[in-house]
Amino acid sequence: MLESKLPAVGTTIFSHMSALASECGALNLSQGFPDFPAPERLRQALARQALEGHNQYAPMAGLPALREAIAGQLAHHRGVVCDADTEITVLPGATEAIYCAITACVSAGDEVILLDPCYDSYRPAVLLAGGVPVHVPLDPVTFMPNWARIEAAISRRTRMLVINSPHNPTGAALAREDLETLNRLVARHGLLVVSDEVYEYLIYDGRTHHSALQFDALRAATFAVFSFGKTYGVTGWKTGYCVAPPALTAELRKIHQYVCFVAVTPVQQALAEFMRAEPDYPLTLAARYQHKRDLFNRALAGSALRLTPSAGSYFQLLDYAALSDSADVQLCEAWTREVGVASIPVSVFYQQPPAQRLLRFCFAKQDAVLQQAAERLCKI
Ligand SMILES: Cc1ncc(COP(=O)(O)O)c(C=O)c1O
Repeated sequence: MLESKLPAVGTTIFSHMSALASECGALNLSQGFPDFPAPERLRQALARQALEGHNQYAPMAGLPALREAIAGQLAHHRGVVCDADTEITVLPGATEAIYCAITACVSAGDEVILLDPCYDSYRPAVLLAGGVPVHVPLDPVTFMPNWARIEAAISRRTRMLVINSPHNPTGAALAREDLETLNRLVARHGLLVVSDEVYEYLIYDGRTHHSALQFDALRAATFAVFSFGKTYGVTGWKTGYCVAPPALTAELRKIHQYVCFVAVTPVQQALAEFMRAEPDYPLTLAARYQHKRDLFNRALAGSALRLTPSAGSYFQLLDYAALSDSADVQLCEAWTREVGVASIPVSVFYQQPPAQRLLRFCFAKQDAVLQQAAERLCKI
């Protein structure tokens, strides 16, 4: 009998809830993807690039034109200078970037600090590398890191720390002071960092996204990971990129070339073309998604669900403690079947879930869908 390398892993909750939502005809606010179209110009670019014959393997590190466009965007929007040849790698999705970064750097017995709740791909990647995930909880109310507690969790074996801002599932966003503290911590302890910044442009109420790439010690020690799927509303195109110093990038590419080798060529061509034509498109996202967050939250005003408006990402947490004592996994399924709104239980993002009553709702949905979902939730 084959011994599983990931015995605790089954079908992800995202697949399960999306399948249940479609089986029940529920409004699907569970999985994180938009239900409205990506920019037409981008979709047309993909069709044209494929028709024009850009259908064979791209260079392993990504199309030079796309890497140049990324370097331009980083300089323009973040003031970060990086070399497109030696520091930027295009991969089939941020998930693969995270996997390759962890696999490249974590050896048997190395500890990796993960901040719970966290995105579900981090822990399996650490385990498959033979590493030891060390889960440190975020504050249970604000979901911000407690840096003293994180520093206390650092041992001689600690190799890496994974951060994610804006944050899935909670919608929290790190402040400049958080990055400054982390910058000092990384310098003091010689740690590597994976900074998952896939929701970098989805940030609200006038906040600024602070990239790990903007802080000196972090810049030298970080794999910063981004997703075209999130920024351009094309999650099904599964294309992302990683920015890291040359020595780290070289190691990441050694793994990437044997996991996937390359990202999809016409997708890269289309993205490069769109980024050149509309360099400020990402800056339009915050207002558009904030409108959706506010529409959803306002429409919930009459319900007993409690919320703190999400600071970033396209997720809104709702606290249902006033409505039910059920565990979140059971309630989530029940509401999908009986109320007709699918969400994601927050406990699945924890190793040791605290006593919370929280569900995660994705508001990257059409306004009418958000309105209808809120109306259904108000009737509970
Ligand atoms: C925090 C976080 N990181 C990474 C990803 C994966 O991005 P990609 O689809 O580009 O692999 C997601 C997708 O939901 C996410 O929420």
